[in-house]
Amino acid sequence: PVINPQSLTDYLALPRCLIRVSAEGDIDRIYEDVQSSQLQEILAQNGYTDLSASNFIELKEGEFLMPGFIDTHTHACQVPNLGVGGEFELLQWLDNYTFPTEARFKDAGYAERAYPDVVQRIVNSGTTTCCYYGSLHLEATKILAKLVHDRGQRAFVGKCNMNRNCPPNYIEPSVNESIDTTLALIKYIEELPKTSNGQPLVHPILTPRFAISCTEELLTRVSEIALKNPKLAIQTHISENPSEVELTKSLFNADSYAQVYERYHLLRNNTILAHGVHLTEDEMVLIAKHGAGVSHCPTSNFYLSSGMARVGMLLDHGVKVGLGTDVAGGYSPSILSTIQHASIASKMLAIQAAQAADKKRNCSRHRHRRDEEVDSESSDEVERHSHGHHGHHGHGHKHHHHEDNCDGDEKKPGGFTNERLSIAALLYLATLGGAHVCCLQDRIGSFAEKKAFDALLVSVRDETGNPGVWGYNITRDLTDGVTAQSADKSMVEWLERFLFCGDDRNIRRVIVQGKMIGGQEYQH
Ligand code: GUN
Ligand code: FE
Repeated sequence: PVINPQSLTDYLALPRCLIRVSAEGDIDRIYEDVQSSQLQEILAQNGYTDLSASNFIELKEGEFLMPGFIDTHTHACQVPNLGVGGEFELLQWLDNYTFPTEARFKDAGYAERAYPDVVQRIVNSGTTTCCYYGSLHLEATKILAKLVHDRGQRAFVGKCNMNRNCPPNYIEPSVNESIDTTLALIKYIEELPKTSNGQPLVHPILTPRFAISCTEELLTRVSEIALKNPKLAIQTHISENPSEVELTKSLFNADSYAQVYERYHLLRNNTILAHGVHLTEDEMVLIAKHGAGVSHCPTSNFYLSSGMARVGMLLDHGVKVGLGTDVAGGYSPSILSTIQHASIASKMLAIQAAQAADKKRNCSRHRHRRDEEVDSESSDEVERHSHGHHGHHGHGHKHHHHEDNCDGDEKKPGGFTNERLSIAALLYLATLGGAHVCCLQDRIGSFAEKKAFDALLVSVRDETGNPGVWGYNITRDLTDGVTAQSADKSMVEWLERFLFCGDDRNIRRVIVQGKMIGGQEYQH
């Protein structure tokens, strides 16, 4: 059984799918629907005489393959802070918790001790591709990149550029030092060995932390690196918190946050902007124009009281969206938590929009009644006036009881604004959407011929030890009830239950480029 995301509205649940993977770890053939009568023949064609061959895997009921999760935004150096600091909002949280924790990575020995468990925990959570922020330190971030590479995880790794508005023990002493160490890390990562098909597994990424922590001179120098290297990815934070937005606009004398990054040529198709909670529609248009993507980090946005990003509206504006755990703003390194919170956030926004629309209807009904008392003007006219066309002399006096908060957000033509995210949409954001955000959609995010085989072997069988997934014996129930026709309906439920109450116990194997690198069955 294979789950294969296709788009924001569609995914395939294939109960009899066979995937053939090359020695290099790329998918070289997908048989979408293999009848049991054909199986022997297809296997023989592929050189298998024996079903028990060690490189042939047959899945049982309740087991399925899906593409690995893509975490488009996380901070490896904040894992030691998981689950503390949630009483603060962003700027105080950075000063009180985050900067002191990251400062410890000045000691390369600490990085050597801390990072192995960080990476393995993220891998075991099902993240096959991860966009990592390291600390500002070159040595510690080299250690992180090497480790990620040696473990075989696909990743982007960057060290923070930050030379102002940070504490004295955690700040870069000069623009030159920030730029030199950035270039040194890029070179180091580019020289790591490639995979057997000649492609890199770990990519460098420019990481100006956020506008507030960079002087204009530093952003100018970072932008020079970016302009010289159009293929080099960029990651930063945007519009996470209202105080942050205000401070940014005043520091840079700008009309909007997105405008600051545009000014320094940091908005382009391989830019990953984390959060985007408080973006205006004009900024969304600007971001879409440059082809940059947004990493939606709802766990963090709830934990640090940042707000709820308008994902549907971003999508309707044509902005690419993926998911990010944003550890340790987010208290879980698992994209499963992010998926759950993305769902809840979208439902909250849908509820708010429905309430606003309701209020608006009540307002206009109320107005209508009052207007009828005055004269018999058509309800059409009243509706038009209620949208703010107060300019007609002789009519305006009828609308003095109009209240501004009667207006709800209008739906956009794309159809995602103010709507709940479906299972298809959540699955897409966690996989293919993330692949688009990191410009790796030709390599990862779904199963397709010539893409890399980056996959999770998921089990929702009761023997996984997670009774939350099924409250009863799935093995018995499925062998009793499943028929060929009902199997794909069951798979839809397997997927939904995994996304909402699965955890590491249900992730049996984590596979990157055809190689198992984590999961419950993985042994070092
Ligand atoms: N903005 C600048 N730095 C950070 C960080 O480390 N985490 C989050 N969530 N936002 C930031
Ligand atoms: Fe972050």
